[in-house]
Amino acid sequence: MEELKKRVEELTKILNEANYNYYVKDEPTITDQEYDKYLRELINIENLHPELAKENSPTRRVGGEVIDKFNKVVHEKPMLSLANVFNEDEIKDFDNKIKKEGFKPEYVCEYKIDGLSVALLYEKGKLVRGVTRGDGVTGEDITHNVKTIKCIPLELKKPLDIEVRGEIFMNKNTLEKINASRKEEGLPLLQNVRNAAAGSIRQLDSKIAAKRELDNFIYYLPEPEKYNIKTHMEALEFMESLGFKINPANKIVKNIDEVLEFIEQAKQKRNNLAYEIDGIVIKVNNIQMQEELGYTAKYPKWATAYKFPAQEVLTRLKDIIFTVGRTGRITPNAVLEPVILMGSTISRATLHNEEYVKEKQLMINDIVSIRKAGDVIPEVVEAKIDRRTGQEIPFKMIDRCPMCKEKLEKNAGQVDYYCKNEKCPKRNIEGIIHYVSRDAMNIDGLGEEIVEELYNLGFIKNISDLYFLKNKKEKIMEFDGYGEKSVNKIIENIEKSKENSLERLLFGLGIREIGTKTAKILASNFSNMDMLMQASIEELESIKDIGKITAESVVNYLKENKELIEKLKEIGINMQYLGKSKKENELISGKKFVITGTIKDIGRKEIKEIIENYGGNVSESVSKNTDIVIVGSNPGSKYEEAIRLNRTIWDEEKTLEALKNLQ
Ligand code: IVH
Repeated sequence: MEELKKRVEELTKILNEANYNYYVKDEPTITDQEYDKYLRELINIENLHPELAKENSPTRRVGGEVIDKFNKVVHEKPMLSLANVFNEDEIKDFDNKIKKEGFKPEYVCEYKIDGLSVALLYEKGKLVRGVTRGDGVTGEDITHNVKTIKCIPLELKKPLDIEVRGEIFMNKNTLEKINASRKEEGLPLLQNVRNAAAGSIRQLDSKIAAKRELDNFIYYLPEPEKYNIKTHMEALEFMESLGFKINPANKIVKNIDEVLEFIEQAKQKRNNLAYEIDGIVIKVNNIQMQEELGYTAKYPKWATAYKFPAQEVLTRLKDIIFTVGRTGRITPNAVLEPVILMGSTISRATLHNEEYVKEKQLMINDIVSIRKAGDVIPEVVEAKIDRRTGQEIPFKMIDRCPMCKEKLEKNAGQVDYYCKNEKCPKRNIEGIIHYVSRDAMNIDGLGEEIVEELYNLGFIKNISDLYFLKNKKEKIMEFDGYGEKSVNKIIENIEKSKENSLERLLFGLGIREIGTKTAKILASNFSNMDMLMQASIEELESIKDIGKITAESVVNYLKENKELIEKLKEIGINMQYLGKSKKENELISGKKFVITGTIKDIGRKEIKEIIENYGGNVSESVSKNTDIVIVGSNPGSKYEEAIRLNRTIWDEEKTLEALKNLQ
């Protein structure tokens, strides 16, 4: 046994070192075959003697650990985000503000990696936990998946208790590879590198994360003073010496002109990088200076992120096709020759309506430019008229529903065409998809494709049919892809949805004009469906934020769909509002608030909740429409903006006083 134990140590060392040389230093020292041989040997020993398998064994890299839920972890130091700047002037403002404080800073410029941030905790040099940023205060434990990321050391070169932070991301070619095989398997494609990385890290089964070949750069040491480190660059070098992968592009620059130069060069190099970057991070190098500059509630004042402008690419408009929404609205969509834009393959873009297409003078076969900024969905900017060859085909709006062939109608004064056939299959499918969606009844496991398939197979024709699927379980399981476990889970989630609060149902029914916000207003004002069904248009209109069109739409819908509502009631779907009812307070109701800085003993989320419960509104930025700005300690630039716009300011004392008697 002793000998085996020694062999386990040896193999661990060999494999960890090989991993480091390959994935961090990019200098392989052994062949893949040798690596596999050692790994297999270790797996065999661990299988025969599970007591020898260590928590941090390199065999964990291949995944296997499955968790049943993500545990919440409170960050020891909050995980802050970065303020954004978008142009040269704003970059210079950032620098000037620092200079005004009497500093003459040197900066470190880094690539802003498009992924998700992670905190890694080590005890005695061993990786014990990986945590997502979450809301900055509390994140989720993703250790099982972090261990599958090959360049993240399971064991450091020194036995330290330490936390480091960095970005988990997916390389561009990995996304392409995964999408190529997903396409073959008929699976929906992963949208872009960031969603792909975030989706992979949020898997309960670490085998899936392992297959996604995630990567990592470390860029932040939360407690440099512990190691007597004086500058950010030293911190990066120190973390590199412990075995972490640090971006070689990080660079010290002497002044803001050199920052601008770094940005220009990054723009040139960007497309040739293996990973996606969406900007540049600028950090004050000197750590004492960082501390003196301090933090707002959300951001360090010593760093900022310059975001690249939206990127554009050219491609061919292959076709314009039409889709039918749940309300029957017809939308033209651009079918594009697939192009990669900011890490996602784009092959579709909405063209909104007939007028939009005409305004842009789009013709099928045109070369068009496509734009995308960050998270934003891609849009067709314009047709390159000078690239026309004569092969272009004019756009023609359809006059019949592409699904049920019903004649399309246009409401007076509006631009959209509608299929008004209540029985149109596509409308019904979209209606059910909407009903089960996250903001509506939130029925997990019923994705768009499954709903469509269950509809086409005849299992569901409308939303009430969902609740009878449990009687058709055996029949459903006869079809490919419907295993007992997944069908049971779907049925369980459908049953669970019966307990939802009324506003989810109201939104899920797909009543015109009713978004999540209006659904909540209706539910909280009427408490239950019966009361709402008895309400007149006038009564509804008298509620703040409910206009005439909305009131009419609600009353008409409920009149026309009495039978459906009765049926849902019989099925046992909750029709009560379960949230807090609206309260009134003259200081708060109807007022627009902005919060900046921290208030003693009470979180911002809590303040926001109280204000909203009393019918106030909280927004992110100060404008001339803001009524009251709550200013706590360490306020951000919103404070200055409030003064500039001469808004009412509540300090900590006034805020606590106003909130004291509420809730
Ligand atoms: S520094 C206190 N450096 O950008 C330091 N962040 O928009 C906080 N990010 O949440 C982070 N590359 O997820 C830093 N080189 C880099 C980064 C980086 C990407 C992400 C990170 C952060 C977000 C802020």
